[in-house]
Amino acid sequence: MLVRDGKIVSVGSIARVEKHSGAKKAEKIDAGGRVVVPGFVDSHTHLIHAASRTEEYELKIRGASYEEIARKGGGILNSVKKLRAATATQLKNRALATLKEFASYGTTTVEAKSGYGLDVASELEILILQRELAAEQPIEIVSTFLGAHVVPAEYRSKSSGAAHYVDLLVDQVLPEVVNQDLAEFCDAFCDRGAFTRGQSRRVLSEAKLHGLTPRLHAEQLTRTGATQLAVELDAASCDHLEQINDADIRALAKSRTAATLLPGCDFHLGWKRYAPARQLIDAGAIVALATDYNPGTSPTVSMPMILSLACTQLRMTPAEAMAAATINAAYALRRSDRLGSLETGKQADFAVFEVEDYREIPYHFGMNRCWMTVKNGEIIYMKD
Ligand code: NIG
Ligand code: FE
Repeated sequence: MLVRDGKIVSVGSIARVEKHSGAKKAEKIDAGGRVVVPGFVDSHTHLIHAASRTEEYELKIRGASYEEIARKGGGILNSVKKLRAATATQLKNRALATLKEFASYGTTTVEAKSGYGLDVASELEILILQRELAAEQPIEIVSTFLGAHVVPAEYRSKSSGAAHYVDLLVDQVLPEVVNQDLAEFCDAFCDRGAFTRGQSRRVLSEAKLHGLTPRLHAEQLTRTGATQLAVELDAASCDHLEQINDADIRALAKSRTAATLLPGCDFHLGWKRYAPARQLIDAGAIVALATDYNPGTSPTVSMPMILSLACTQLRMTPAEAMAAATINAAYALRRSDRLGSLETGKQADFAVFEVEDYREIPYHFGMNRCWMTVKNGEIIYMKD
């Protein structure tokens, strides 16, 4: 592969690349027989949060369900409390350290959602931090406004609290997000205990009018019809999909909306039901994979681990999993013209793995064989 000014100018056999006029003067990096793959595009993360929720992890192991914990004020609201109590510097330093970890697993692009602030100032603070992080470190950050994550505590005691919170999002937060150009996408958690399909439609349609592209947390806990809503809104992606039915699969297969699967959640929560990846792929849907990095359901930055789960639990082939984590994920972020594959003209974002065969990346579950990560032609991680 020959790289110039952050772009791939030639790729293929040594003979072919060395024939290129720029090859002679180029600095040579010998990958020593290792495997070079496109940098992972992690198209669903909740990057900015204040702390882990290990206390809930133990409760879950002892038998409490994710929804029970949430109903008692834990879950997302627990993270909201922690975030509001944290300083911007604390949040930023935690995210910076996490971004370095992302790079060490071969990830070069990360989507990041707000959603642990849930008031005007805190939601804007998260998105502003995301913009600063994007400018101050090498991993590309794609910003998503997720004010519609859950209804915050202060609105729950009021009558029609959810409706009033949706009004706040639409009338106050969204216009400010747009005004300050803080997000490219708008997401909503459309599920039991979060927002209804009607409320999600209102937030996302309004966001769309403002020029943001919709994406959705859909059918994770129950089937709500969120997938049909995603297709109706021409969302870039709908994510989770553990509870989808055949009609949803057919609708996704006919649409441009990516189906982003997040098997880290099912694994971490100890659930047996994974999304029907095989049926989605066989029907012709565009399947992407992401970590869903967050403190409640998927505290991992490891795309190699997600590939392992995709292969053993979702029955995706290693090639399908690799495509889902790179080019299809880039598509889910509307960036597949620039990112997600090693082709002439594309951005030089790649990872070098210390393996002999790309299938060893998912095969060695829970191990990190990443040797080097390159973003935009620059080395951003090198194994000691
Ligand atoms: O993608 N489902 C909603 N949001 C996150 C979980 C967030 C949390 O528990 O903190 C998810 O699984
Ligand atoms: Fe999520």
